[in-house]
Amino acid sequence: MKIKLYKDCNSMTETIIESIDDSILKSKEYYFVLGLATGSTPLSLYKHMRNTNWDASKMYTFNLDEYADLPYNHPQSYEHYMEENLFTYKQFKKSYFPSEKNYRNYDVMLRLFNIDIQILGIGTNGHIAFNEPGTPKDSLTRKVELTENTRKDNSRFFDSMDDVPTHAYTMGIESIMEAKQIYLLAKGKHKKDILEKACYGEVTSDIPASYLQEHKNVKVFYCD
Ligand code: PGA
Repeated sequence: MKIKLYKDCNSMTETIIESIDDSILKSKEYYFVLGLATGSTPLSLYKHMRNTNWDASKMYTFNLDEYADLPYNHPQSYEHYMEENLFTYKQFKKSYFPSEKNYRNYDVMLRLFNIDIQILGIGTNGHIAFNEPGTPKDSLTRKVELTENTRKDNSRFFDSMDDVPTHAYTMGIESIMEAKQIYLLAKGKHKKDILEKACYGEVTSDIPASYLQEHKNVKVFYCD
């Protein structure tokens, strides 16, 4: 996996939008399926997406993960995040999130819809979605316990560490690897080291993002 380096995060976002645009144009299917991530990294991507001329009524979205035990309207729930940052502006045909109700069937849905492009961030510990270090390659959508490292990283969005949920629902590695294309995004110097390990180091469960080396269609974007 070769990392495309950008000095300017805005031009990185524009390149990503153009690339998705291109895939939508080339797609022979009636519907286009986007896999979406949350966190701070894709925020500018969603801002740009709002202004595209994509026909959202012909697009489905699947989010990677969701906290357990947060009500839907909690400001830190990922569903709320997506509403606030994208769905209010683009009305997709239908959007899915893993939850207590559907997580056992999420992979069936994913296979049925077959994600065209999966957007991914990377955690400072190498996680993708909530697949923490140690996650096996054949993992599917499931309920997981969050590591202290991840809860600490995410505590900046909550009033206190105690408010950060302890569990979440997440797509597994195998679920993610089934996407036709994967765009792995990282922003900031604090992500550079883990991104390089994931892309150029050994494929290991210690760095779940390193599994992506085994996918045949991954693009990696990094900006400072
Ligand atoms: P971030 O999170 O975009 O907020 O850095 C990425 C992740 O933990 O996957």
